[in-house]
Amino acid sequence: MLEKMAKKVVKSSFAVRSYLAFRRIFSLVDDAIRKKLNKKPVLYLLEYHMAEHCNMNCKNCFHFSPLVKTETFPSLKQFKCDIVRLSEIFGNIKTIRLMGGEPLLNKELPHFIYTTRKAFPRANIHLLSNGLLYKKVEGDLLAAIKSHNVVIHISLYKPMIPKRDEMARYFTANGVEHWISDPILHFAKYINIDGTSNPKKAVRQCPASRCVFLSNGKLARCPLPFNIKHFNEYFNQSINMENELIDIHTQGLDGFELKKKLIQPMQSCRYCGKLEWRDWEQINPPISAGGENIRIEDFCISRLTD
Ligand SMILES: C[S@@+](CC[C@H](N)C(=O)[O-])C[C@H]1O[C@@H](n2cnc3c(N)ncnc32)[C@H](O)[C@@H]1O
Ligand code: SF4
Ligand code: SF4
Repeated sequence: MLEKMAKKVVKSSFAVRSYLAFRRIFSLVDDAIRKKLNKKPVLYLLEYHMAEHCNMNCKNCFHFSPLVKTETFPSLKQFKCDIVRLSEIFGNIKTIRLMGGEPLLNKELPHFIYTTRKAFPRANIHLLSNGLLYKKVEGDLLAAIKSHNVVIHISLYKPMIPKRDEMARYFTANGVEHWISDPILHFAKYINIDGTSNPKKAVRQCPASRCVFLSNGKLARCPLPFNIKHFNEYFNQSINMENELIDIHTQGLDGFELKKKLIQPMQSCRYCGKLEWRDWEQINPPISAGGENIRIEDFCISRLTD
């Protein structure tokens, strides 16, 4: 049995590594051809937070959303400016993930959707949600989702497992393209608080591979350099990742060079270690309602890597 499982893991990690290598080669060739043809490069994936906070409050959340005590939404004006700038730099973005925190908490979501679709007519736009507010997908939001081909991706946590079929029926009845995950019963933590990991090794087990993140006119290889502020604030830490942020409004920025930079390991990757999995749990009551059963160990790994 164990031998069978080990073989499966080896096979699948070989398959994943081969797939990633193939994708890297494809991307390099594609970039070279586009450059020759005077075309703009294509970015594979972009993530953007529609809210910093969340209504599910999963312990160990990769984005530290349960640590955000007050409602925090992005500026639509800044987003317009940033996404238009990205459309000057990139010919397309294959997939844009509107996420958070919980995106369905944002009342301006229809405007963010119009703006995203206008800037990138050929992108796959995915809305990543925990589904608690699925019935809020109505009116203007429903119209925006349908008319701009947005696909809703639901992460199915324990509180929503009994409502899975009801939610699927609701989306189908309203003509919403959707995908619902299998039940999520385990969550991982990965922060190496000592910052002693080898960045090159850390990116090989990265929990946010290729998740280029946009916020306030800046891009980074992953969401961590932006979200670390929530961790710092709550646990009174001072991990500084500011130097990983790339200003997209810098004049003369070259998309091909930018892409190369975005796949390099960052110095900050030394704060990431091997994922440690545990049972999924909810922080209840949430911190915003006075809950305190949360410790720095809920986000930091105990086994340090070199
Ligand atoms: C940060 S969430 C944001 C969107 C939405 N709130 C949700 O949960 O789908 C995006 C994705 O990251 C995954 N994620 C977040 N923290 C995680 C963790 N500690 N372990 C594994 N997956 C995690 C979630 O399951 C989800 O699929
Ligand atoms: S639902 Fe969970 S994983 Fe998603 S943002 Fe909220 S706390 Fe994080
Ligand atoms: S800091 Fe590096 S290793 Fe950690 S999540 Fe980001 S890209 Fe991955």
